[in-house]
Amino acid sequence: MNNTVAEKGWLNLPPDPTLDLFAEISRLKKEKKMVLLAHYYQDADIQDVADFIGDSLGLAQQAAKTDAEIIVFAGVHFMAETAKILNPHKKVLLPDLRAGCSLADSCPPEAFAAFKARHPDHIVITYINCTADIKALSDIICTSSNAEQIVNSLPAEQKIIFAPDRNLGAYLNKKTGRNMVLWDGACMVHEIFSLEKIARLKQQHPEAKFIAHPECEAPVLELADFIGSTTALLNFTKKDSATSYIVGTETGILHQMEKASPHKTFIPAPPNNSCACNDCPHMKLNTLEKLYVCMQYELPEVTMTPELIEKSARPINRMLELSAQFGL
Ligand code: 13P
Ligand code: SF4
Repeated sequence: MNNTVAEKGWLNLPPDPTLDLFAEISRLKKEKKMVLLAHYYQDADIQDVADFIGDSLGLAQQAAKTDAEIIVFAGVHFMAETAKILNPHKKVLLPDLRAGCSLADSCPPEAFAAFKARHPDHIVITYINCTADIKALSDIICTSSNAEQIVNSLPAEQKIIFAPDRNLGAYLNKKTGRNMVLWDGACMVHEIFSLEKIARLKQQHPEAKFIAHPECEAPVLELADFIGSTTALLNFTKKDSATSYIVGTETGILHQMEKASPHKTFIPAPPNNSCACNDCPHMKLNTLEKLYVCMQYELPEVTMTPELIEKSARPINRMLELSAQFGL
């Protein structure tokens, strides 16, 4: 290993400030046969230099089919872990290994195994925002893009556990008429929106449509004109005739919405705190500088045991097969 990296640690190695990081990242991608996958919640700079920007399903599908030698994941840990599970023999890099997820953290494996044991005749459908240990305890993984179809693909009488997001689970119960048993987890970013402030904003902008991610709480979703995954929200704003939207999800998605529809106005839905911030602190741990250092030194790498990869791959592959059947 490079001595400086060994001595200082990669995180403490700021790149030369005179470097053109966009050009350097593009060079490294070509030279090292790397593919850079980025989630919509990443900083605009990272989105602009990525090979593919997407929601959790799109990113998993890209990871499953890439022929690149190294996958650089600009997202959070569970996303990079999914890419590694789908590519056990490839190097998968995450610019900052501390980029976690409050929703994944809300579902510890021991407690979930005990919960599952209390519902022995239930199939476990788990939202992709969870650790590999939880995936290994699951039957089918889903994302917000395919969850409704995956639930509906099971017989009506089939008992189901849905984990870890109680808000997405409650939304799916309402949409599908099921009574899935829900794990009590949530995303800190989507639970922070203020119902009162959104209602006030809607009054101030009667022309604006309120669009929201299904990880939001039920009373917030009740105010929404459209509910969907990040890709579904983006596509809606491209096709819909309105010219103004209040956006109930992480602010990173506004970059692609504004790029696709420069004549439209996008207002971030207000949170219930005074800092007016609904950025995901985990997603935002990745920066262009860390991305460059990570690509240069090929660190830090996401690693897992072969046993965990094998167990957690099954429910992910099930999701990918079902998604292909649904034409997603
Ligand atoms: P999607 O992009 O799949 O809608 O997920 C949103 C999210 O919270 C990712 O962490
Ligand atoms: Fe997790 Fe929520 Fe951040 Fe997505 S937005 S990574 S669900 S904490």
